[in-house]
Amino acid sequence: MSNALKKVLVLNGPNLGRLGKRQPEIYGHTTLKELGAMCVGWGHELGFAVDVRQTNHEGDMVDWLNDAADKEIPVVLNAAAWTHYSYAIYDACAQLTAPLIEVHISEPLERPEVFRHTSVVTPHAAAVVAGKGIDGYREALEVIATKLDKV
Ligand code: DQA
Repeated sequence: MSNALKKVLVLNGPNLGRLGKRQPEIYGHTTLKELGAMCVGWGHELGFAVDVRQTNHEGDMVDWLNDAADKEIPVVLNAAAWTHYSYAIYDACAQLTAPLIEVHISEPLERPEVFRHTSVVTPHAAAVVAGKGIDGYREALEVIATKLDKV
């Protein structure tokens, strides 16, 4: 299998460590730990070794993205609130060479807060998956598999 054991990073930004407790009417009841296990399982089916991380600290996220750029690792990124205003995340995403897929559990474009209607990630993303709940992460991994198979 061409993608056997290829590493993929699934990176989650601020407040996503509280999945399951945080506004479940918007983000659902799945915890980050459960999401991580699902991503590892979905990745395994696609031949990926998935590494799922979450941070509330922007510098950590920039370091992870810089490392992904250096090692040409595909990234599934839910940058959470940083999506909407962080030029450090914009610049880090700009350096990625392997596919970057932007994911949101909710659909920010359909939410009432106008600040959610801007994304600094989208200009650098090969695809955006939003509003599909936790299953969006699975779709994002499938998009990466499709993109890599085309190379
Ligand atoms: C989010 C949407 C963002 O607007 C919000 O700040 C988040 C989560 C989502 O997954 O739906 O923290 O990225």
